[in-house]
Amino acid sequence: MRAAAFSDLTGPDGVSIINQPTPEPDRGEAVVSVDACAINRHDLWILEGDSAMVDTDDLPFVSGLDVAGTVDAVGKGVTAVEPGDRVVLCPNETCGTCRYCREGPENLCENFSLYHGGLAEAARVQADRLVTLPDGVETVDAAALPTAYMTAFHMLRRVDAGPGDLVFIPGVTGGVGVAGVQLAAALGADSVGTSSSAAKLDRVESLGLDYAIESTDPDEIREAVTDIGTVDGVLNHLGGEYTQVGLDVLRRGGRMAICGRTAGGTSEIDIPDLFLGHKHVIGSTMGTQGDLERLVGLVADGELTPEIDQTYSLDETGGAFAAMQDRDSVGKLVVTP
Ligand SMILES: NC(=O)c1ccc[n+]([C@@H]2O[C@H](COP(=O)([O-])OP(=O)(O)OC[C@H]3O[C@@H](n4cnc5c(N)ncnc54)[C@H](OP(=O)(O)O)[C@@H]3O)[C@@H](O)[C@H]2O)c1
Ligand SMILES: [Zn+2]
Repeated sequence: MRAAAFSDLTGPDGVSIINQPTPEPDRGEAVVSVDACAINRHDLWILEGDSAMVDTDDLPFVSGLDVAGTVDAVGKGVTAVEPGDRVVLCPNETCGTCRYCREGPENLCENFSLYHGGLAEAARVQADRLVTLPDGVETVDAAALPTAYMTAFHMLRRVDAGPGDLVFIPGVTGGVGVAGVQLAAALGADSVGTSSSAAKLDRVESLGLDYAIESTDPDEIREAVTDIGTVDGVLNHLGGEYTQVGLDVLRRGGRMAICGRTAGGTSEIDIPDLFLGHKHVIGSTMGTQGDLERLVGLVADGELTPEIDQTYSLDETGGAFAAMQDRDSVGKLVVTP
């Protein structure tokens, strides 16, 4: 089978097509014929050599977390799915035995890791991580859900977003950002978000963004959000200097969930403002398989349509990463092997 592998960790030019033996399922596993695999900033970090997870000894490396397709074969002991089932993978990998796996939620697992291998014609996965797709849910839409939508969904729950709340999302045009807007709307909350691009903001407004701020300047953003209203919750996937902006506009007792570091892995924060304002800063990673099942249900019910900027063939995978690197897209980029 063909796979789009990272052969060099030098950015989008490091993607090349390789041939690998078609995988066979071991006990508890399934092999999925991949219709669609969304890419994430997480894959791009690896491809740019900016991740401790993969180094040059591991090359070629097949990344890709968000797999959707049709079950081709199952290993011994698998009863939940069978060949022919249309499925989407929850890419969480958990040990099942630690205190957090026992008490939940599962994404707290102390041995938590993520599946990689979806940027290929076939993917060998843990069968009990597959969620079956109801008729009417396209595999391309399903592939958009796991990482971006699960993460945004979990963050909205962590910040207690509800009807009438205002949620602030710096960097609102990407995978997590657009998911945050659509899911905040589904919860009855308003959203305010930022981007460097007026054209991209127009598109996100058409998807439900209530207030758009075209700026990357922290001071300008702080002032613009303050003029709009008091923020009840912040979804922060940028980090860097945007963390303090989020805290500045957050109401007393409000919550900020942080899942990423696109703009910087460290942030300086005003400690007195934090404690005098009773503000919460919450780390958040991915979501639970139950979250993914709920998201699939929302799509099946017509309440959510994941935003897909473009699909790419396997041969065009490098181009998909170039579009992400160039900040040239809205929502998700999906490879369709
Ligand atoms: N912890 C977790 O479980 C988890 C899960 C998913 C994602 N994440 C993290 O969340 C972040 C977002 O992921 P994603 O897949 O949604 O990425 P993405 O689609 O590439 O996000 C694009 C957004 O980020 C903004 N952006 C990009 N570079 C920027 C910069 N240097 N300064 C300010 N804004 C910038 C873009 O702004 P413009 O509109 O101006 O171009 C756009 O709004 C990543 O850091 C990712 O690793 C973490
Ligand atoms: Zn565990």
